[in-house]
Amino acid sequence: QWQYSLRPRYLHEYIGQDKVKDNLSIFVQAALSRKEALDHVLLYGPPGLGKTTLAGIIANEMGVNFRVTSGPAIERAGDLAALLTNLGEKDVLFIDEIHRLSRNVEEVLYSAMEDFALDIIIGKGPSARSIRLDIAPFTLIGATTKAGALAAPLRDRFGVISRLEYYQPGALIHIIKRAAEILNIAIEERGALEIARRSRGTPRIANRLLKRVRDYAQITGDGIITDAIADQALAMLEVDKLGLDEIDRTMLLTIIEKFGGGPVGVDTLAAAISEETDTIEDVYEPYLLQLGFINRTPRGRVATLAAYKHLGIPMKTEEK
Ligand code: ADE
Repeated sequence: QWQYSLRPRYLHEYIGQDKVKDNLSIFVQAALSRKEALDHVLLYGPPGLGKTTLAGIIANEMGVNFRVTSGPAIERAGDLAALLTNLGEKDVLFIDEIHRLSRNVEEVLYSAMEDFALDIIIGKGPSARSIRLDIAPFTLIGATTKAGALAAPLRDRFGVISRLEYYQPGALIHIIKRAAEILNIAIEERGALEIARRSRGTPRIANRLLKRVRDYAQITGDGIITDAIADQALAMLEVDKLGLDEIDRTMLLTIIEKFGGGPVGVDTLAAAISEETDTIEDVYEPYLLQLGFINRTPRGRVATLAAYKHLGIPMKTEEK
C-alpha cells in the first residue's frame, strides 16, 4: 500500500528529530552488538509527529518483528498475556496510547517488562495460587501524547524516554519533497515551503495537505504545485497562514467572544465547541500553546494578545 511506502523504514531516511534519532541509533547499535533486546522505549509528544513510524524503524533496524496494538485495545490482562507469549526473541511490541491501559493490564506489564515473566493467578478464593511464566526477552515501545498521564511505576520501567518535537519548516520541506517524489507529484521549492509553513510542525498534516493541494493543482492549474497554487488551495481548505484550521479558530474565538478572553475551564470550552476534552488537550491545544496563542492557568485557558492580533480582534483592556 502506498501509505506504507511513505513511511521511512530506516533511521537514515527519517527526517528531523535529530536528537532522538542520534540517541536511538547508538542504543540500537549497542543492543545489536551485545545480541540483546533493546531496552524499553517510551516515545511521547503531540499526534502526527511519527511515533509509530519511529517504532517501526527501530524494529526494522533491530531486525525483529514489529507487533502493533494500543492501550484501549488491550481490555484484559489475558489479552496482554496472549500478545506477550506470542512474541519472538527480541521482538518489538508497540503499544500506542499507552496511557490508556487499564490498571489490571498495567500490573501484568510491570513484571513482563522487568523480569520477562508473567504472573498468572490460577483458581479462585483460598485455593488460588500464582504461577510465573517466562516469556522471551522483548522490547516494549510505548507511545503517548501525555507522558504526565502515565503512572510513575510504568514510566520508570522504560530505559529510554524520548520526546518528539514539532518539526521546523526546513525539515517539513524535506519531508514534503520526499513524499512528493514517492507519490509522483510535481512541486516547486516555494510550494513546499508554503505547505510546510501551514502544517503545524506536523508531518502527518503536511502529507495530507500535500495531497489536497495536488488535487487542486491538477484541476485548476497544470498539475505543478507552486506557491501561488498552494496558497489558493490552502485558503480554500480554510487553513490559514499559520496552519490554523476552522476548529482552532473556533476555539480561540469562543474563548475570546463567549468567555471574555478566559480563563475558561477546558471541559466548559469543549462543551461550547462540541469537541472532546481529550481532543482539545491532545490535538489542538499543544500547537496553540506553542504559538503562544493560549495560556494554561490554574483557572483555565486564556487567549493571549498574540491570538487577538492573529484573529484581528482588538483586545479590550479593563478600565478602572
Ligand atoms: N514522513 C512522515 N514523517 C517523516 C519523517 N520524520 N521523515 C521522513 N518521512 C516522514
